[in-house]
Amino acid sequence: MDSVVKDSRKAGERVGLKSESIIIKGGKPLSGTIEVRGAKNLVTKAMVASILGDSPSTLQNVPDISDVKVVAGLLNVHGVTTTEGENSGELILDPRNVERAHHADIDAHSGSSRIPILFCGPLLHRLGEAFIPDLGGCKIGDRPIDFHLDALRSFGAEVDKLPSGISLSAPDGLRGTKITLGYPSVGATEQVLLSATLAKGVTELRNAAIEPEIMDLILILQKMGAIITVEPNRVIFIEGVDSLNGFNHKAIPDRNEAASWASAALATGGDIFVRGALQADLVTFLNVYRKVGGAFDVKEDGIRFYHPGKPLKAVTFETDVHPGFMTDWQQPLIVALTQAEGTSVVHETVYENRFGFTDALNKMGADITIHEEGLDAADRRVARRPLEQAAVINGPTPLHAADVSVPDLRGGFSYLIAAMIAEGESRVNNVGIIARGYEHFIEKLEQLGADFKLV
Ligand code: EPU
Repeated sequence: MDSVVKDSRKAGERVGLKSESIIIKGGKPLSGTIEVRGAKNLVTKAMVASILGDSPSTLQNVPDISDVKVVAGLLNVHGVTTTEGENSGELILDPRNVERAHHADIDAHSGSSRIPILFCGPLLHRLGEAFIPDLGGCKIGDRPIDFHLDALRSFGAEVDKLPSGISLSAPDGLRGTKITLGYPSVGATEQVLLSATLAKGVTELRNAAIEPEIMDLILILQKMGAIITVEPNRVIFIEGVDSLNGFNHKAIPDRNEAASWASAALATGGDIFVRGALQADLVTFLNVYRKVGGAFDVKEDGIRFYHPGKPLKAVTFETDVHPGFMTDWQQPLIVALTQAEGTSVVHETVYENRFGFTDALNKMGADITIHEEGLDAADRRVARRPLEQAAVINGPTPLHAADVSVPDLRGGFSYLIAAMIAEGESRVNNVGIIARGYEHFIEKLEQLGADFKLV
């Protein structure tokens, strides 16, 4: 099958459309080199942090993904200009004319991403008020924002929930406070960091998330003039300062994208060099990858992931907060586990509904059973959470082609991999969602020798 992708710019625009589909002919190992750029889950937060500065910021290594465009749009309606720099992936953010946005303009971004909730603290500092539209993002559970709103109230903000969104005000500014999160939430930790840096006094945050993307955000805030101390046991102290300047920062690489391509190499029996992949941020993933039977070579500028030719082995693991196995890594790896010999068990402990994508894999011939109440296991590292689920994967099962529709970002990528190993031609619909977080994935599939066409 001839790929219809001739021009990378065009392809990027095309897959941004929700109605786009891709027809994949399975059976070809993915081999070659691709590059991962800045982490979606850092870049978008760094863009929001720029609002706190009283001079422009420069962010490097920014990927061309639709989540970046959504956040840029929301910044623009608040008077923050975003311009591409001279170097590829360079974004210049100028917050000097930050202003109130029209509700209609903010509403235009309603339901498109979860990042708007992080605008609260920075806008309260700059304008004394903020309006946040309904939140979007992947449908992988309830995704409550109670930690965010409790934290903002604790800083002294008034929070009004309206049918159209959330209205906040803090006419007297935000004050430092003591917060203990009910769970080490990534977003709530970022909310506290972005709100505390310019608050009056000291903020003490307990049970904070410590993901690499959080640490990179802390580096950015420090460059801006913030005083943040990370102590052992998930405790972070933030000493409020009077003002912050812009930053110049190169975003850490996207470890979730790297892990996704690694799983694609393993499942398809391929060999992919992921330029930019960083071992330090993938330690837990690499351990599980090796236990499954995957091979990798860590190089100076990236990691080569490959299938060494021997049968894959079943594993049991659970998703967890950092430094555990990330919830975003399980979906692509589960496709590889359908090809492993024996019974694998994956416990999802971060989100309550992140196995929905397995229905489509079963339709393609996989043998995956979801246990809604989780399963007991003797070798648990963390105590059970009430919301957890378990997936039991029996393998190896040959996959056959099917017509499937992308449910969410990571599930969507796993469908691409499943289609790559299925016998026959699969049609994957709604691939626009994948462009939210996977830069130029169509061009990368082409570079790796996949057999597909866009329709
Ligand atoms: N939670 C609450 N209350 C809150 C906030 C979170 O109960 O106020 C719960 C959530 O329901 C969930 C758990 O805490 O059960 C963890 O959620 P967290 O806040 O850590 O996640 P997030 O900030 O919404 C980010 C990433 C996710 C990634 C998670 C976990 C972004 C934009 N999203 O979400 O990435 O899975 O952390 O690491 O940074 C993705 O990239 O596709 C993605 C979903």
